[in-house]
Amino acid sequence: LLLIIVAVVLGVTLSKETNQFQSVFFSRCEKFKGHDCQKIWEAFQQAYVNQDPCDIPMEAYDPLITAAPFKPTCNRMMFWSKTKDVVHEFTEKRDCFVTLEDTLLGSVLDGLTWCGKEGSSETFTTDCPGWTDCKNNTVRSFWNRVSAAYADIACGDVTAMLNGSIAVPFSPTSIFGSIEVKGLNATRVKSLNVVLVTDEKNVTNCTNASLKDLQKELAEGIKYNCKEVPDTQIQECGSNPQKPCGSCW
Ligand code: APR
Repeated sequence: LLLIIVAVVLGVTLSKETNQFQSVFFSRCEKFKGHDCQKIWEAFQQAYVNQDPCDIPMEAYDPLITAAPFKPTCNRMMFWSKTKDVVHEFTEKRDCFVTLEDTLLGSVLDGLTWCGKEGSSETFTTDCPGWTDCKNNTVRSFWNRVSAAYADIACGDVTAMLNGSIAVPFSPTSIFGSIEVKGLNATRVKSLNVVLVTDEKNVTNCTNASLKDLQKELAEGIKYNCKEVPDTQIQECGSNPQKPCGSCW
């Protein structure tokens, strides 16, 4: 009898690590009204629990996308690369642009690390493979999958905030370059508008060679624009909610 009790307790009790992760997941999820966070949690977990954390293909997260589908917000969708802080500081304050990290799935998992292990029903948050340790790692496959889904529903005029203080603002191996740009559908997307965020150093401008590569990757029919915008102007527009977003840059 004692053995049975021990086995049952071990079977249903999850570690502190799993519980802490789960509680962050739920508290972030519950900020979005009208969603079944328990159902979303279960769809999320089935992607990686009890599996090799280096062998999770993007497709493992398909049921998660089905459980919490992205809704198109035409003309307001914002992509970015190497501008994480400036773009989110802006979209946090202004709802005229929406990044993946402002949506349910993106905001729930932003900044988190998680993985499973074969033979375990736990969610681990330490000793998980790093971003480049293996191709199909749990976290990277998640971002690849949700980014593909977010690009797939993009519509109207879409914006991308790229970093003008680095030599190569468009990297074909970034998520933006390898997944999102290629995933924009010309039947839905009218134009891609690059906001190249510059600082005093002016390392890069819209004539940068990498931006030519970006244009080549765009499906035929999607118009392309690029504008150099000082970071101070973006911050200012973020802190002035009375200023129409259309005149931010
Ligand atoms: N190691 C760890 N994390 C990484 C690494 C890495 N080598 N590369 C990327 N990441 C994660 C980090 O969390 C980082 O902040 O991806 C984030 C974005 O990386 P960037 O290279 O700045 O941009 P990119 O790969 O283009 O991804 C941004 O994808 O998240 C979506 O829709 C979003 O348009 C956005 C794009």
